[in-house]
Amino acid sequence: MAVRDLRTVFHTQDGVVHAVNGVSFHVDEGELLAVVGESGSGKSVAMMSLLKLLPIPPAEIASGEVIFQDRDLVRLEASELRQVRGARIGFVFQDPMTSLNPVFSVGYQIMEPLRKHMGMSRKAARQRAAELLDLVGIPSARDRLDDFPHQFSGGMRQRVVIAIALACDPKVLIADEPTTALDVTVQAQILELVRELRRKLGMAIVWITHDLGVAAGIADRIMVMYGGQIVEHATTAELFANPRHPYTRALLDSLPGRHGRDERLRSIGGQPPLLMADPAFCPFQARCAHAFERCLREDPPLERVAPGHDVACWLDVPEGGGRRDN
Ligand SMILES: Nc1ncnc2c1ncn2[C@@H]1O[C@H](COP(=O)(O)OP(=O)(O)O)[C@@H](O)[C@H]1O
Ligand SMILES: [Mg+2]
Repeated sequence: MAVRDLRTVFHTQDGVVHAVNGVSFHVDEGELLAVVGESGSGKSVAMMSLLKLLPIPPAEIASGEVIFQDRDLVRLEASELRQVRGARIGFVFQDPMTSLNPVFSVGYQIMEPLRKHMGMSRKAARQRAAELLDLVGIPSARDRLDDFPHQFSGGMRQRVVIAIALACDPKVLIADEPTTALDVTVQAQILELVRELRRKLGMAIVWITHDLGVAAGIADRIMVMYGGQIVEHATTAELFANPRHPYTRALLDSLPGRHGRDERLRSIGGQPPLLMADPAFCPFQARCAHAFERCLREDPPLERVAPGHDVACWLDVPEGGGRRDN
């Protein structure tokens, strides 16, 4: 899947919110791309735009291409897009309770996409549903098919949601902070499950998280978003070894354990941008210790600084005019 120059805005009573401002990236089969950034940076809106999972209006996909299997998803008819959505690209949302219907058994909810998109018989779909529950690590899977969502714990419900997303053998799985609502132990179990599924199934995975530590544990590549833009993109090893953008550095600094015995979380000062103005300056300038005059009047483009490592910062542009003190 390749995304080019995606821009998504919301038309609100207070004006236009520029939620996603020219995002480009790709993710290949067998690869796990993590999208990292604090709340409000545009991660969810960017990924929901790919499948038009947003209310349009108020949302509008102002520009961009989403090339998947030789077609541009932005330009597909609603009915064609529905096919892609349920079958070829799986989506897992943050809160499993909003993706599960409380009045249907989990078996029914896994069987539904199998029958709808893959034309399976009831019997075959039931068999496959049991296999899927087993695949995501639900004990006695076959006996749990007729249970309802409330009969599962939070972690087990998120496994069910993942099973539904995987039902039709998607080529891409997009997971939007699927472990945020879970406690740390269960979160670790889900992350282990994802590592295993990726090995077994080899699909492309886009994993959204506000936690750089989570991304470090599972991702091949990490894309850091801020103010609706990608500010840095690199392989996981490269990003941790050689972070360039002041925002990425601040995120790394705020990870627990980075400061010896002082385990207090260092938070980044200041507020995320409001996104009401057309971005004519660096989105991070108001919070950046290195900002200089150019950052206030020109938005830095995402530029390659090393093989597979892109940064959007005037400090990294030769003749950009800035100076890094550390
Ligand atoms: N329905 C909406 N109407 C107006 N603005 C929205 C709407 N949904 C999201 N936004 C805005 O889009 C921006 C990006 O939000 P989001 O993608 O949810 O961030 P993240 O997932 O990184 O926390 C935020 O400024 C948010 O306020
Ligand atoms: Mg979000």
